[in-house]
Amino acid sequence: MTRRASDAAESAAASRRWWDAEAAAYLDEHGTFLGDARFVWCPEGLSEADAGLLGDVAGRRVLEVGSGAAQCARWLSAQGADPVALDLSLEMLRHGRRIGLGAGLDVPLVQADATRLPFGDGTFDLACSAYGALPFVADSAAVMSEVARVLRDGGRWVFAVTHPVRWSFPDDPGPAGLVAQSSYFDRRPYVEQDEQGIATYVEHHRTLGDRVRELVGAGFRLVDLVEPEWPDDNTRTWGQWSPLRGQVIPGTAIFVAEKA
Ligand SMILES: C[S@@+](CC[C@H](N)C(=O)[O-])C[C@H]1O[C@@H](n2cnc3c(N)ncnc32)[C@H](O)[C@@H]1O
Repeated sequence: MTRRASDAAESAAASRRWWDAEAAAYLDEHGTFLGDARFVWCPEGLSEADAGLLGDVAGRRVLEVGSGAAQCARWLSAQGADPVALDLSLEMLRHGRRIGLGAGLDVPLVQADATRLPFGDGTFDLACSAYGALPFVADSAAVMSEVARVLRDGGRWVFAVTHPVRWSFPDDPGPAGLVAQSSYFDRRPYVEQDEQGIATYVEHHRTLGDRVRELVGAGFRLVDLVEPEWPDDNTRTWGQWSPLRGQVIPGTAIFVAEKA
C-alpha cells in the first residue's frame, strides 16, 4: 500500500473491480452483523431504528447511495418507505437481489456511479449512505452536488464515513492503532496497487472541515454531526474498528444535512 494521488477514473475502476471480486467474502464476514433487512450505520453498531437520523421514513422516497447488498434499503422498505438502492458494483447488487428475494423484501436496485446519479431533479425526499461510495470516490464534492440535485428542497441527506481523525493512525485494530503516525491534513488517498502500479483498492480522506465545506458548497445545511461511541456490548472487530480503539478515539462520523 501507499499514499498517492488517484484520480476519479482510477478510483472508480479499482472500486468496481474490488467490490465485484470481494462481494461474497465481504458478506460472509459481515453479513450476519449487517442483517438481511437491518439499517446499521457503522461498525459501532448504531442502527437507524435506534438513532432515527432520517426522521419519519414512511411514505418517503429514499435513495441509498453505495448500498452494497441493500440491507438498509430493505429496512426502509419494511418501514413503509419507497427506497432505491444504488451501487457501483454489480456483484454487490446481485447479492442484494438474492438476499431480497430470500427475505421477501425485493427493492429496486440501480447500478451507477454516485458521482453521476441517473435520476431527475427533486426525485427523492431523503438520501442516505452507510459507508457507501463516499470513502471511495476522488470527487466527493460531486456526490454532494448530485445528491443535492436529486433531493427535493428540504430533503435530508445522512451519510456515515470513517471518522477523519482515524487517518492519523495506522489501520490496525490493536494497540499500534492508538499511536498517531501521519498527518490528519494529508489528503492523499490510501492506495493498494499491483506490481504494475495499477490501483486495486482506493480510499479517500477528507478532513471534517472538507466535508462541511463540500456539504455547504452543494447547498446543504449541516444539522448534526454524530460520533457514535463504542457500546460495551459490542465485542466485534471489523477491520481497524475494535472495542480497544473505540473506547479511545471516534471511528465513525455521521453527517446529518438538509437541502437548504
Ligand atoms: C462498505 S460498502 C457499504 C455498503 C453497505 N452499507 C455495507 O455496509 O455493506 C461500500 C459500497 O460502496 C460502493 N461504491 C464504491 N464506490 C462507489 C461509487 N463510486 N458509486 C457507487 N457506489 C460505490 C461499493 O461497491 C460498496 O458496495
